Amino acid sequence: MKILVINGPNINMLGVREPDIYGKNTYKELVKMIKDHCKAKGVSCELYQSNHEGDIVTKIQKAYKKFDGIVINPAAYTHTSVAILDALKAVGIRTVEVHISDVSAREDFRQISYVGKYAEKTVAGLGFDGYIAAIDHLIGEDR
Ligand code: DQA
Repeated sequence: MKILVINGPNINMLGVREPDIYGKNTYKELVKMIKDHCKAKGVSCELYQSNHEGDIVTKIQKAYKKFDGIVINPAAYTHTSVAILDALKAVGIRTVEVHISDVSAREDFRQISYVGKYAEKTVAGLGFDGYIAAIDHLIGEDR
């Protein structure tokens, strides 16, 4: 099982960025937590972060036939990007959408998710643990 974990814009700023919403832990700590979990589960995982929509689209395209599952936090592109939605549909890879915060309780402009129209599951409001829940779902170990 090979999982690609994609994080969108400003996720590299975790720890600095609005800690009351996203917590005090850094992106580096998130990466370590995910890698440790994948190792414990015997799953191969690759992590990718970009602030650029087109680069995320290209990364998804390149995942075609290479990955069995995608965990994606598209960050702000969640609410705007038809291109990321179309890329996920194009490659047909099982996908779980993750948000660190509880987007459903936030501003109106965060209430639409384009990726959510393709993802088989959305996990929001669990902090970093949401990524763990997403990986566990993809490997068939939902809690
Ligand atoms: C986010 C929520 C988005 O609305 C926001 O633009 C982000 C992060 C989250 O993880 O809670 O950058 O995806």
